[in-house]
Amino acid sequence: MGRHPVGATQDFEPQKVKVLRAGGERICVALHEGQFYAFEDRCTHDDGPLGGGALEGCQIECPRHGARFDIRTGRVTAPPAFTPIEIYQTEVSDGQVFVLMED
Ligand code: FES
Repeated sequence: MGRHPVGATQDFEPQKVKVLRAGGERICVALHEGQFYAFEDRCTHDDGPLGGGALEGCQIECPRHGARFDIRTGRVTAPPAFTPIEIYQTEVSDGQVFVLMED
């Protein structure tokens, strides 16, 4: 399991999604209700980038065709996607945010 630093906690604004590279992947990191969530920057409908989508509550909407996913679980909450997105665990240590990913 790789532990990848993705920025200081103060670099993140609530309900804003940042697109970053970690572990060779493009991922999204978002601060929602005081917790950091990380997920793949790829919609399972047609591989669209999710990072440009709006985060409403805990749901991100794909800017391409409007599929929605719960960033806490990866589960689909609105079609046309039906496969969950991959999510990653996060950790905060000494003011730094880390994303845990399989090597
Ligand atoms: S690529 Fe995301 S809804 Fe189609």
